[in-house]
Formats: sequence, structure tokens, C-alpha cells
Amino acid sequence: MDTLKFRNNDPLHAIGLGTWKSEPGKVKHAVKHALKVGYRHIDCAAVYNNEKEVGEALTEIFKEGDIKREDVFITSKLWNNAHRKEDVKPALMQTLKDLQLDYLDLYLMHWPVAFKSGLEGFPESDDDFLSLDEVSLSETWEAMVELKQEGLIKHAGVSNFSKEKLQDLMKETDLIPEMNQIELHPYLHQSELVEFCHANQILVTAFSPLGSQDRTEAMKADNEPTLLENDVIKSIADKHSVSPAQVLIRFHLERQVATIPKSTNEGRIEQNFESYKLNLDGEDLQKLKDLDNHYRYVNGKFFETSDGKYSNIYDE
Ligand code: A2P
Repeated sequence: MDTLKFRNNDPLHAIGLGTWKSEPGKVKHAVKHALKVGYRHIDCAAVYNNEKEVGEALTEIFKEGDIKREDVFITSKLWNNAHRKEDVKPALMQTLKDLQLDYLDLYLMHWPVAFKSGLEGFPESDDDFLSLDEVSLSETWEAMVELKQEGLIKHAGVSNFSKEKLQDLMKETDLIPEMNQIELHPYLHQSELVEFCHANQILVTAFSPLGSQDRTEAMKADNEPTLLENDVIKSIADKHSVSPAQVLIRFHLERQVATIPKSTNEGRIEQNFESYKLNLDGEDLQKLKDLDNHYRYVNGKFFETSDGKYSNIYDE
């Protein structure tokens, strides 16, 4: 398996199992199956509402004895309702309790967006948000850095951060984020952001590598393009006798980017893992590059407020 290296040389398997949208009732089996077939990187988040079940899977696997806690890289994410400095550690402790762990390998600030402390569910009005003047990204970040100093997390990072937001944060902190998890796929290369991260030893993880077709209808645009059905991607898959999903996963590894395809299906979990064996050539990569039309499946509009607290989340 391709591995990426953190600044301190800690390794990260470039293909991890995504758990966003994995239903309770299915995610436990998915995580156990993934670990049994070789995955050593699991991506979680408090807001996915399934960490308890992921925790049951991890505990059962560790009890079996073949795979140990230190063999698996586990990521989770701080939800937007816990950005105030006093809320950050309790949020992590809840995640650790749910996952039945005593440390995380990586904790990410899920979004550069703050909700009122403890807000349940999604905001219903502008009042449910806190502006970044009320709780700055650096306030939240510094509280996350303390978790690292306490040994509760091994690495700290962010998600959905633009180059501008990273630059602002880097001016105000001693610990530059170690990871930025962002949406990436052949329709959305974000080359400038990826290059900026790599130049600053910030690892990058690609979410929605397969186009996240299992998002709720409310999150989908009308007539959105389907990555898995794209003719160019299909032709590259045919050329190598692999599936379109495997091309989409391998694409990131060629860019030194990690990725976290989600599946709760045994066969697809295995197939996705096997993508590391594929080699894309220069011609394939050029064709994939030509597909870039800056299309986002997760467009961030759901966090825009009418009072101007939040707009243009990605700074573009
Ligand atoms: P399933 O969980 O039934 O396998 P993303 O990782 O971009 O969020 O995409 C996840 C979606 O892609 C889910 O609907 C998942 O369905 C589906 N999926 C995962 N792996 C594959 C695959 N190898 N081929 C086709 N669809 C896949």
C-alpha cells in the first residue's frame, strides 16, 4: 500500500475507509471487513452519527488479537458546534468514548464554520451560527493543539480549508495543520491548494473520491454529473481491466494524496483497497487532468447565512 508521511515521519496508508453516510446497522460490519482485508486507516467524524458502532467494530477486532490499536490509523473530526475553546476537549472526549479509544491518530477541525455551542442538528436560522469574530478559527485551533500536547491526539489538522484560511492560521500558530481534508476528484483538482499544502508539509486527503452519489437528495444539485459513469474514466478503466472506482481512487495516489472511499459493501470495500495495485500512465493522467471543471459535489452553500456571517466558504 502507498503510504504518505507526516512531518515527524509517521506513516499514513493512502487508502482509508470512509464512513460518511455509512448507516448504523452496516458500518460495524464494513469496518471489521475492511480491517480484515488490509485497510489500516479509518476516517470518522462525530457528525456522521455512527462513531459508537465504529467503536464496537474496533473493540471486537482488537479483542480478536491479530490487529492491534497501534496498527490502525483512526481519524475523527470536531463538529461545528464545539468550536469554543472550552468545548473542544469535551467534544474529543465524547468521540473517544464512542470509538472506545484512548487516543486518536488524527483530529480535524471539520469545517471553518462555527455554530452555537452544543447546537443539535443543523442550523435553522442565522442565529444558530457564531461568526468567526465571536469564535476565531485560531481559538479553536489552539485548543486542538493542546489536545496534541496532552497526548490525546497524535496529529492535528483541518478540513475544508482554503489556501487563504490556512495562511491566516499559519500566521497565528506554532503548529501548522498537519492535514487538510478536502473534496478532490477528476472534476475538482484544486492544484494550487494541493501544491500549497505539500509545499508546507501539510498532507492532503481527498473526500468524495467517487462523487458521493449516496448523499441525501437535499445535498444534490439538479443534473449533477456522475463521476463513475464518465466515459473518459470508463475508457481508462477498460484499458487497465479495472473498475471506474479503482481509477478514481488511484488518481489520488498518483498525486501523493490520501483518499477515503466509502463503502459498506464487502466486494466494493475489497475492490477499492485493491486500487493501490493499479498504475496509471502519463496519458491517463493527462486525460484525467483535462476533466477538471472545478465541480464540487459538496458546495458548502448549506453553511451560507443571509446576514453575511458566512459566505463563499471556500474563498473562491
Ligand atoms: P456502497 O456503500 O453501497 O458501496 P464517496 O466515497 O465518494 O462518498 O462515494 C460513496 C458512494 O460510492 C456510495 O454510494 C458507495 O456505495 C459507492 N461505492 C463505493 N465503492 C464503489 C465501487 N467500487 N463501485 C461503485 N460504487 C461504489
